[in-house]
Amino acid sequence: MDELSKDKIISFTQEVALRHNYNRSEVIGMLQEIQEHYHYLPESALNELSKCLKVTPQTIYGIATFYAQFSLDPKGKYIVKICDGTACHVKNSRKIYDAVEKKMKFIPGKRTTVDGLFTLETVSCLGACGIAPVMVINDKVYAQMDPEAAAGVIETLAKQETESAEEQ
Ligand code: FES
Repeated sequence: MDELSKDKIISFTQEVALRHNYNRSEVIGMLQEIQEHYHYLPESALNELSKCLKVTPQTIYGIATFYAQFSLDPKGKYIVKICDGTACHVKNSRKIYDAVEKKMKFIPGKRTTVDGLFTLETVSCLGACGIAPVMVINDKVYAQMDPEAAAGVIETLAKQETESAEEQ
């Protein structure tokens, strides 16, 4: 990470802590804001938050690693979740996962793509069994998916991102 982005992360973290009046009981809300902004919890943000709240870095890391909602690894702009609960599984969700996976080039050992666009995950049930098999990308739900359609969604998003990057 270059110094500029590290500085930005530190100042963003300071703003978040200030917005919460440095109230330690709101630490989870602060971590949620940081994660929402960066899609994960950068190390420099956790260290800065410990300074702002005058607690040890271990305290902040302990909270950040305790809750499954937080990630210390960078996540993609699009978090793709393929449901693998029973209702989706019996409707071939594994094939959907495989088709989506084929469209992605991952950082070795990670489930996030090298271009930082996608993170691929499975979930056990999204509570939408009636429209299985289900794929969710960020907050958007894709119902009754099939492998081809799911791969097509990924392709379209990747294309849109390339086009908007070229326009800038
Ligand atoms: S099993 Fe997939 S939504 Fe319930």
